[in-house]
Amino acid sequence: MVTFKSKGEIAKMRAAGDVIVRIFELCERIVKPGVSTGEVDAQVDTLIRDSGNRASFKGYMGYPASICASVNEEVVHGIPSERVLRDGDLLTVDVGVIHQGWHADAARSYAVGALNTERTELAQATADGLDAGINACQVGHRLSHIARAVEAEGRRRQYGVVEQYVGHGIGTALHEEPQVPNLVTPALLRNDMVLRPGLVIAIEPMFNLGTAETRTKSDGWTVVTKDGRCSAHFEDTVAITDDGPEVLTRRNAKDRIWNVTPRSTS
Ligand code: MF3
Ligand code: CO
Repeated sequence: MVTFKSKGEIAKMRAAGDVIVRIFELCERIVKPGVSTGEVDAQVDTLIRDSGNRASFKGYMGYPASICASVNEEVVHGIPSERVLRDGDLLTVDVGVIHQGWHADAARSYAVGALNTERTELAQATADGLDAGINACQVGHRLSHIARAVEAEGRRRQYGVVEQYVGHGIGTALHEEPQVPNLVTPALLRNDMVLRPGLVIAIEPMFNLGTAETRTKSDGWTVVTKDGRCSAHFEDTVAITDDGPEVLTRRNAKDRIWNVTPRSTS
């Protein structure tokens, strides 16, 4: 069932989103070579508790941490650990916050130290895919407008556009209907919902340098690319309104979410 949120409910989701904005500002400062993904999780968890809120992911289907930390060939759902980040890694931090019963969910990829050109361009394209998807969130458009806009940014550079993991409705549950695919499929076109005011969705493209194919590791969570090449992931929670898309997980709608210049050697 798809539910439409009132202005007051969206305000609560925005308050959850404001905590996520501060989490990403924290990550900008602390993600660097020598730091473990478990340390990033611990600091994010402290910020969420200090804000008086709760982490969406911890305990979700038994998930053990407050963030997902996915490095390089890890696509999504990497579990924070003792793993120490190294110069040139690409780390995606994915996090959800619950404020007064309402969720927001977002993800950012971060350059650890100096990133090579190939990975920098991959992350830029994925961020561009998310921005294109957000811009397609207009009343009267359909889910396929979002999918087509996201997909085009990936195809342009011949990246693998991950099909198996999709965006989602969000509200009092982390995952609600509808599914929000990152590419246009026959199944999407058969059930292509019209966007209406009050619909709130998480859009979350994942682009890979190589194959779009993924597999799940033996820990039951960590999803990696089948060919071991690098993956990037960005996500925002977006409310559809008569005035256009409202991004609940950015400070300003126009904020750039990736601004890294590649080092000269790759
Ligand atoms: N942002 C992720 C998603 O929407 C949530 C991770 S699932 C969890 O798929 F189990 F880790 F919470
Ligand atoms: Co999500």
